Amino acid sequence: MSTEQNILKQLKTNIQQSRFSVNQSINKNRFYNLNGNFFKAGIPVIMLLILFIIINSCKSEISESSVSLKENYRNLIPKPVSVIVSDGIYTLKNKVTIYVEPENEEMMKLGIYLAELLNTPTGFNIKVQSKSGKFRRGNIYLTLHKKDTLPGKEGYFLEVEKNYIHLVAKQPEGIFRGIQTLRQLFNPAIEQSTIQQVPWEIATGKITDYPRFEWRSAMLDVSRHFFSVNDVKRFIDLLTAYKINRFHIHLADDQGWRIQINSWPNLTLHGGSTEVGGGKGGYYTQEEYSEIVNYAREHYITVVPEIDMPGHTNAALASYPELNCNNTAPELYTGMRVGFSSLCIHKEITYKFLDDVIGEIANLTPGPYFHIGGDEAHSTDKEDYIYFINRVQEIVRSHNKLMVGWDEISQAQLDSNTILQHWNSSHEKLVINRGLQVIMSPGHKMYLDMKYDSTTKLGLTWAGYINVKDAYTWDPATLIDGLGEKNILGTESPLWSETLNTIKDIEYMTFPRLPGYAEIGWSPPGWRNWDEYKIRLSSHGPRFKAMEINFHQSEMVDWQ
Ligand code: ACM
Repeated sequence: MSTEQNILKQLKTNIQQSRFSVNQSINKNRFYNLNGNFFKAGIPVIMLLILFIIINSCKSEISESSVSLKENYRNLIPKPVSVIVSDGIYTLKNKVTIYVEPENEEMMKLGIYLAELLNTPTGFNIKVQSKSGKFRRGNIYLTLHKKDTLPGKEGYFLEVEKNYIHLVAKQPEGIFRGIQTLRQLFNPAIEQSTIQQVPWEIATGKITDYPRFEWRSAMLDVSRHFFSVNDVKRFIDLLTAYKINRFHIHLADDQGWRIQINSWPNLTLHGGSTEVGGGKGGYYTQEEYSEIVNYAREHYITVVPEIDMPGHTNAALASYPELNCNNTAPELYTGMRVGFSSLCIHKEITYKFLDDVIGEIANLTPGPYFHIGGDEAHSTDKEDYIYFINRVQEIVRSHNKLMVGWDEISQAQLDSNTILQHWNSSHEKLVINRGLQVIMSPGHKMYLDMKYDSTTKLGLTWAGYINVKDAYTWDPATLIDGLGEKNILGTESPLWSETLNTIKDIEYMTFPRLPGYAEIGWSPPGWRNWDEYKIRLSSHGPRFKAMEINFHQSEMVDWQ
């Protein structure tokens, strides 16, 4: 047992003993009472007894709550770079003000975001002001400090003192990530959407934190099954809580085209009209897509739109006969096979089509990326495939976006800033020694649609089962020989939706694996230890419940 575990065990024993002694005194008091000796004992003795009970019970409450408050620091996911906990307690009160500095719209928005997070479950009326004075009266201070020394855009310092909270970062993004940490320092009731009566206390302490990888992402396939804007926003909310900063949305595949393209309206009118299993499908208007992009941006998450090509294109081919080499549109497809469709590589209309599609989506997407898929093009000759990817890369570049593609695109002549996304362990050779940045999404470690075990009803198994422990106990920088830390841009956990119908299905496959992936992407390597992590993860059970997440209650974790 580690020293930390020893100390915690000791503290827990003390709490139990002290609780026991309080109960004993109360029982003794009752016994005394029941025996009819109450009045004979005399007022002073009774007063002393009452005083003794009050003091004892207060002591126990303080020691118990301060220990569990301190545990909130220990239980943070992702684990911060440095944590120092001290003995004091900060209490959030109704009259607290959030002060932001400097005075600008973005900082005010961050203040309001935090105020809403805190006001909802507390019922307080915490306000935001743009001028800060001395740190006092339990106020919360959000400060941008250009000269701080934290690496990257997302680092932050969080200081919790008895009479104030101070969150400092170089960039607003850092403040936003720090707010996610602050959430986890409160009682899990902070995540409830209705007013809760609990003490809103935090142990005092200091956290210094910044991410390991720049790209920490999750992908949602809205093509195999369509999910509403509200479902997508809910998914973004859940990513936010674990400091995910990219949202890759798989917008088109054989089974459905999900984004309105004004210059090719049939893509959605026809190509978006169904989904796996023959349901009615759906699509996002450009306004709705922008709503998703803006919602993500408000959560400091960059949307990465994907239109998969040249394979995975049956929905497009079914919508426009001219995109097919034989000028004949196939039927819409509602099954689960892959690798049977291909755009027609040697027709110029294909590139006009792609220029229109990529152009319209690029215009709606402020982030710098455009994902072209490129996977499983089993119906495209290798030579044609390479020709196609080279041409598409030019189109993406002409719309001022950085191209991202799955493993297979590395067979083409890629620009040095094109990004590879590794998914299939049989393609490892394709991604090493290319000198390109790689996003790690190895199917057998990170695919959220893989079943947890043989009893999981949802999901697939082609890359194996991924239980909560397997998802956590590996490292992107040591998984593949020849692909080390410097080649890795980050991590992404994709969720393919062949078997998923509802947001509750999405939640079940995503939680509790996502917090582990978030930690792999954020926290320094070398700390990871399943026995330690599973205790931390168990403490997030009440948080998941407060957030009403339909999570998989894995038997590998002793849920709190
Ligand atoms: C993939 O899973 N076909 C990228």
